[in-house]
Amino acid sequence: MDAEQAEHMEGLCVTDCTRCPALVDSRSRIVDGTGPADADVLFVGEAPGAQEDAEGEPFVGRSGTVLDDQLRTVGLERESVRITNCVRCRPPDNRDPTTDELENCRGYLEAEIDRVDPDVVVTLGKVPSEHLLERSVAVTSETGSVEEVRLGDTTTPRPVLICLHPAATLYDRSQESAFAETIQEAAAIAGVSPTDEGGQSRLGEY
Ligand code: URA
Repeated sequence: MDAEQAEHMEGLCVTDCTRCPALVDSRSRIVDGTGPADADVLFVGEAPGAQEDAEGEPFVGRSGTVLDDQLRTVGLERESVRITNCVRCRPPDNRDPTTDELENCRGYLEAEIDRVDPDVVVTLGKVPSEHLLERSVAVTSETGSVEEVRLGDTTTPRPVLICLHPAATLYDRSQESAFAETIQEAAAIAGVSPTDEGGQSRLGEY
């Protein structure tokens, strides 16, 4: 069994879903999460955009470049983290997913969180933050806050780290440092520190 088939077996991939009629029409494919099934850090975005829909991978457009750059800076390679979205199909005209669409996809997200069992779930932007925390969130002022949240059927709360959406730094350069500090915090929770070579090392390894 290759890695892709193994992921299907583990329930990380959604092979067919027609729960959201508008999204079935607007998507060209279902965009599942990527990254190791046992990653320590799980990033959750809103929904795929045009580029993600075309390539079948979350955060591969401009927001993805911002995220990748910051991950590298803190010693977290993209390949070592898991990246997914609240909704796996591209909404038409890049509108926000509706409440029904978020609910239709929630089971897939919760199954992925359970399966990956990360040290920290990082919500990128307002939609995923409010979806997982189930309250209104002022992301600009709350970025960097960690809340213990009970997700899905589990009785054990998980740390959820609120983070600005990477695109926020493209619209407003003054948000760059808060975004950088929050990604740094994610790495610290996962016990990763930057190395001189730009790779990653696990604190406590030595
Ligand atoms: N923005 C998101 O929220 N998710 C993506 O996959 C890309 C951009």
